[in-house]
Amino acid sequence: MSRSLCQITDFTTEEIHEIFDLCAKMKKGEISPKPLDGKSVACIFTKASLRTRISFEVGISELGGHSLYLTDKEIKLGERETIADAARVLSRYVAMIMIRTFKQSDVEGLAENASIPIVNGLTDLVHPCQIMGDYFTIMEHLEPKDRYKIAYVGDGNNITNSWLNLASRIPIDFRIGTADDCQPDNDLLAKAKANSDSNILLTDDPKEAVENADVIYTDVWTSMGQKHLADDKTKKLEKYQLNSSLLSMASSKAIVLHCLPAERGREITDEVMDSPQSVVFDEAENRLHIQKAIMLFLLQ
Ligand code: CP
Ligand code: NVA
Repeated sequence: MSRSLCQITDFTTEEIHEIFDLCAKMKKGEISPKPLDGKSVACIFTKASLRTRISFEVGISELGGHSLYLTDKEIKLGERETIADAARVLSRYVAMIMIRTFKQSDVEGLAENASIPIVNGLTDLVHPCQIMGDYFTIMEHLEPKDRYKIAYVGDGNNITNSWLNLASRIPIDFRIGTADDCQPDNDLLAKAKANSDSNILLTDDPKEAVENADVIYTDVWTSMGQKHLADDKTKKLEKYQLNSSLLSMASSKAIVLHCLPAERGREITDEVMDSPQSVVFDEAENRLHIQKAIMLFLLQ
């Protein structure tokens, strides 16, 4: 079994900082390692993607490797053979597997049975590469601080859960503003609360969540695989829309993040998304740099 990234808590605090350092060095062009020279990486997607697919393919190429884009049509993961057997077979061909899928247990099943690193490119539970890149973006844009105040407003989903994972490892003041039945994963919430270096607030009041925040974050109200819930979630989450009025309650220097894709006019207004406080495209760029650092770390 090799080291893998199934969720952020697979890394220690020191390892996360090591990955941020590698990311900064590669982004500045101070190092350009080729750990994938002459090797291939399987990129498995059973959900749609723009950022994850392209940033991984480009990143793999920049690390000297070749990527194989595989959808469920070809491999029918867990259907034609067990996840464990697929992991054992793929380990004989490729140096790493990146997977975006529904079930977290499928990613963990691959990691338990492969002899190569597995990288989670999003499941229903978490999106670790996204939030590691997002924290890197925050460090680039804001002055250093012991504990950034990060407010997440909207659906308590895989993005919220990944912030909770990060709060288990890195001190943050994380406030979640969401409706009663749109809450994040209970177990990950409890684990984050167990880290006494972080503060976690869960409230149904969006204003309380964003008050004086350094960062305001939102994401779609219905994630991939849940679009049939759109009307219901829209009703429940309407008051959590990230608009100028909500943004004005954060610190005047607050930055706005969104993992993208955004449903403009729903969870975020054009005015906020296109405001000078929005750093969403820098954030999207950093997916490339952080994933290269994660791959380099796992291949070392
Ligand atoms: N943020 C993100 O993961 O985007 P994609 O779904 O386009 O990959
Ligand atoms: N919560 C969203 C994130 C997309 C990057 C989803 O899972 O669809």
